[in-house]
Amino acid sequence: MKKILITGGAGFIGSHVLRLFVNKYPYVEIVNLDKLTYAGNLENLTDIEDKENYSFVKGDIVDEEFVNDLFSKNKFDGVIHLAAESHVDRSIANPTEFIKTNIIGTINLLNAARASWGDNMEDKIFYHISTDEVYGSLGKEGFFVEETPYDPRSPYSSSKASSDHLVRAYFHTYGMPVKISNCSNNYGANQFPEKLLPLMINNITQNKPLPVYGEGLNIRDWLWVEDHARAIDVIFHNGVLGETYNIGGNNEWTNIDLVKLLCATMDKKLNRTEGESEKLITYVTDRAGHDMRYAIDATKIKRKLGWEPSITFEKGLELTVEWYLTNSDWLNNITSGDYQNYYKQQYKN
Ligand code: NAD
Ligand code: DAU
Repeated sequence: MKKILITGGAGFIGSHVLRLFVNKYPYVEIVNLDKLTYAGNLENLTDIEDKENYSFVKGDIVDEEFVNDLFSKNKFDGVIHLAAESHVDRSIANPTEFIKTNIIGTINLLNAARASWGDNMEDKIFYHISTDEVYGSLGKEGFFVEETPYDPRSPYSSSKASSDHLVRAYFHTYGMPVKISNCSNNYGANQFPEKLLPLMINNITQNKPLPVYGEGLNIRDWLWVEDHARAIDVIFHNGVLGETYNIGGNNEWTNIDLVKLLCATMDKKLNRTEGESEKLITYVTDRAGHDMRYAIDATKIKRKLGWEPSITFEKGLELTVEWYLTNSDWLNNITSGDYQNYYKQQYKN
């Protein structure tokens, strides 16, 4: 591959994927296409922005003319598509934006890639990054496997499910060389503090209430973002066309236990007395339609591609907390301005 387009590279996961690819493949040109929404931040990429094989294009995947123009000016051999509206709570407040970016944006990219590749699809790859939320909500037992029927329940997961279906339809109908992966909850550096862990880290640091939805008993399967980036690399290069791979951490936590572990970790880092941060926990109104449990069976990617998580959750959480404490400027910059309005609206305080 000579030239790869990565969409959403200024976001949380995209920035880790870009860093891995730009450093690991110095002879491949990597183009980062990002609209720089509230979630996109070029500060996430300062360590690679001057690399010769990296370039940035600001643009909106919903803008069909712009996307077509980008593909006619560049001969991309591969696309790794991460750009999306990604926060469930925002999708509940404003679903339409999710339909535009996650569905229309994806079909614009599929159409532009198809037009650009024509009959020469050999050696090309369109890799769509998706989520475990498309499978719906689990009870106490069971795991999501690649064959689990789709049952999305939020506007966010419905829009991601729709885009997954379109990507598969382009494989079956037009022979597009596609791959899809569905990953569980990521955590790590550079995550926007609307998501559980960075929001709680920010609030603990500032001694603000820690808003736990409902009874805090919902379960998520947490994976270190750098391990997700490694999985994306492995699937992009070695995954089979037309196939789906589930990616997960085999690491289930109820939200309340996770927040308590985070409080204990931060008490140590901030030299607080044991149990001090936990006192900030506040139970708030539950998320509408809150999915109870997500849990990934990642056997396929382990068996077929040899990928598995590289670090323990305790280690990953410690590295994550250290990163946010060391990079307080990064956090302060994005929690000023619009973030305050979002927070007031979402948490009504
Ligand atoms: P994010 O919200 O941090 O980043 C999204 C990026 O996409 C931002 O840089 C934003 O500017 C860009 N973007 C948004 N709309 C755009 C548009 N119309 N045109 C161009 N760029 C646009 O998201 P994330 O958490 O890094 O997630 C990345 C992808 O991975 C998403 O597709 C998401 O569904 C998927 N995913 C996320 C998780 C997770 O735990 N965060 C887990 C599984 C899958
Ligand atoms: O499972 C993969 C998905 O994980 C991704 O597709 C999404 O893009 C990503 O945002 C994430 O979705 P969740 O809704 O699981 O993540 P979030 O961090 O928003 O919430 C995690 C859990 O914590 C969820 O059960 C809701 C709860 N929560 C969240 C927030 C922000 C709280 O209790 N309080 C909060 O303030």
